[in-house]
Amino acid sequence: MYLLDTKYKTPLYQQLYQQLRSKILNGELSAQTKLPSSRRLSAELHISRNTVDTAYQQLLSEGYIVGKTRSGYYVETIHNTNFPDYVETPAAEPSAKPLTEKIKYDFQYGKLSPQTFPFSHWQRLTNECLRRDKEQLVNYSPFMGEPGLRREIVKYLRDYRDVKCTADQLLITSGTKHCLILACQLLKPLTSVIAMEDPGFAAAHFTFTNQGFQVSLIPLNHHGLNVKVLRASTAKAVYVTPSHQFPTGRIMPITRRLRLVEWAYEQDSFIIEDDYSCHLRYDVKPIPSLQGLAPEKVIYMGSFSKILSPSLRVAYMVLPKDLAQRMQQEAETLVCPVPLLIQKPLEQFLREGHFESHLRKMLRHFKKKHDTLLHALQETFGDTVSISGINAGLHLLLQLKQPALGSNDLVSRAGRSGIHIHANNLWVESEPGQAARVLLGFGAIALEDIPPAISLLHKVWLEY
Ligand SMILES: Cc1ncc(COP(=O)(O)O)c(C=O)c1O
Repeated sequence: MYLLDTKYKTPLYQQLYQQLRSKILNGELSAQTKLPSSRRLSAELHISRNTVDTAYQQLLSEGYIVGKTRSGYYVETIHNTNFPDYVETPAAEPSAKPLTEKIKYDFQYGKLSPQTFPFSHWQRLTNECLRRDKEQLVNYSPFMGEPGLRREIVKYLRDYRDVKCTADQLLITSGTKHCLILACQLLKPLTSVIAMEDPGFAAAHFTFTNQGFQVSLIPLNHHGLNVKVLRASTAKAVYVTPSHQFPTGRIMPITRRLRLVEWAYEQDSFIIEDDYSCHLRYDVKPIPSLQGLAPEKVIYMGSFSKILSPSLRVAYMVLPKDLAQRMQQEAETLVCPVPLLIQKPLEQFLREGHFESHLRKMLRHFKKKHDTLLHALQETFGDTVSISGINAGLHLLLQLKQPALGSNDLVSRAGRSGIHIHANNLWVESEPGQAARVLLGFGAIALEDIPPAISLLHKVWLEY
């Protein structure tokens, strides 16, 4: 008995196919049972023969039935399986991430405001790409990325970051975490332990452990990662953020950089340099990369997330020559995950000099926000807080000197008043909970909202 109804959106042939299939699967139609001819079934069900034929063809191509010449269709022998029946459950609502229904003041780290994106340039460059690059747009992009974009990034890195490399050492990736996964694949034959700063970037820690490495957390002292402790570890690679330590914002001075390079040469090891917010320095010129000191020992990575948009998902990685060669060989059959429709406009954006002027504009924009935030914090909180990470990047790290409240309390109190901030889930540290610390990202909040947001924070944290 088959119940077919033209009122349903599902076409008749599909209704018939589905009913036949479930009868076969639940054994109601046992193996070798002959199906009625399409002429007979169509007459019985008052549907066209075509409809029955289409349903039978579908079952035939999926292997539920077999056809025997001049005899008809028979149910295939399908071995019983012990799979549990799939029960469809109603789709759950995506979990509500923000702590409040309505965010009034947004200090979310990593987020930018729409005013910072060069929409009109991007629109023009995208349209030009759609008109000009038709051939390429219907093809795969080479794994290392578009050669033109790689050349432009190399030029930029050489001029602005003192990175020493050629385009065949540079790889376009879909974000820093993607760079980290690729670095892990290259490092696997060399080490099972990767060291990183303590505290350090949680996503890096997650990636390393997820890729099967043991992670050794190396404490920071005033000058950055403690190389003595690093020497005592068995790690043959270390992940660092020297131009703006995440999350403390400290700069690694040249003496410590040189000691790190010394360690890499002595131990035949690699330094993974994450130069994530290298463009944003508000007091002096950006600090040159560590890669420039030891191109053979540094796996360098940078991202467009902070200066253009995190949604573009474009980052890049510069590999020492031997690792770049290995990557090229191993990845020959892979494809670049960044769409050509992003790579091409970005290439032109760099080539036509828009990136440089965008950078200058963004520096002015973020410096204003940085200064306003710092001033508001100092005015409002006085010496009840210590602030680290000033003069660079897109966040400040705040520590309450007399922590009556823990980090999570600070976040939830702020959240209840409509202020979105982050606590320590963005970084890992071996001794968490010592101090109440929160991270204030200022990429998204409007300049004029900063002072009232900071007064409100003071109220909900300290005036209770
Ligand atoms: C330490 C660090 N590295 C890199 C990034 C950029 O990551 P992505 O390129 O995946 O957006 C961030 C931004 O959140 C970061 O904090």
